[in-house]
Amino acid sequence: RDITLLSVPFGLGAGRAGSELGPAKLVGELDLAGSLRRHGLRIGDEKEIAVASLLKAMPPDAAGYAGKASGMKHAAEVLSVSRALAAEGAAAAAAGHFPLFIGGDHSMAIGSVAGLTARYEQMGIIWFDAHADLNTETTSFTGNMHGISLAAAIGLTTLSLKDVYRAAKPIALERAVLLGARDLDPAEERFIQQSGLTYFSKTDIGRLGIEETTRRALQIACKDADGLHLSFDIDSVDPGEAPGTGTPVPGGISILEVRLALRIIGSSALLSSADFVELNPLLDQGERTSKLMHSLIAELLLAHSS
Ligand code: ARG
Ligand code: MN
Ligand code: MN
Ligand code: MN
Repeated sequence: RDITLLSVPFGLGAGRAGSELGPAKLVGELDLAGSLRRHGLRIGDEKEIAVASLLKAMPPDAAGYAGKASGMKHAAEVLSVSRALAAEGAAAAAAGHFPLFIGGDHSMAIGSVAGLTARYEQMGIIWFDAHADLNTETTSFTGNMHGISLAAAIGLTTLSLKDVYRAAKPIALERAVLLGARDLDPAEERFIQQSGLTYFSKTDIGRLGIEETTRRALQIACKDADGLHLSFDIDSVDPGEAPGTGTPVPGGISILEVRLALRIIGSSALLSSADFVELNPLLDQGERTSKLMHSLIAELLLAHSS
């Protein structure tokens, strides 16, 4: 299956600048498309979301959402970029391609998920992250939109996926799996406990091992699913190995573990799309984190193609 590479140079959903530079580093300087091709993968289309012009021409109803979500920073900008992203992702998926979204901060998953659920009505999701991103507009302490994106994907937020993409549909809680999280806000913790959303913490990974944990995560996300989306936040990896990210949390998984996990997820025939987000080149040590992200993307896609 051809890959559609979608660059999303947008970082206003995060609390600090820099994640908008992810695509310039990965796709530009490190030539992601070229190296995927050299690995034998087929890149059908390469597109960049025109963030600057979108922000200049923000639709008035986006400001309406910002009003309702007052307290959330750059809510209108996130909505506007998400809409463009959703349309591109939906079109790529409808053409039978594998949409690969390169961020950008994690708020962009609101857009990618909205578009993809139009094509995969029973889509499962693996949210690979140090955080839960399960705040809502009312529980968020920071006002940062990247902290509400999983909540939006499962229909908990004021921002509805249908406001992003008309044919969107929230992901069923039963097929949403959080993997690797270790920094949850109290409201997020409460939600997980009450809702029964599947959550494999860093402690679970320690106990079960990454291989067994990932297999279980896959099984749950794929139950009765017609597609699987991986939303991969690079801060899931230990900051000692991946320092170039805006909200680092100590105690993350190792490079060895993340490689194995992505190989297992990649080998699932149901995998149909992925986000790679939260790389912040301004905070990196040299190109360490960029190069890691680059090789993790290849790892996932190679496992998927073989
Ligand atoms: N829970 C915090 C918040 O709501 C941190 C979220 C970090 N999210 C991320 N995608 N890095 O702001
Ligand atoms: Mn094609
Ligand atoms: Mn995240
Ligand atoms: Mn995170």
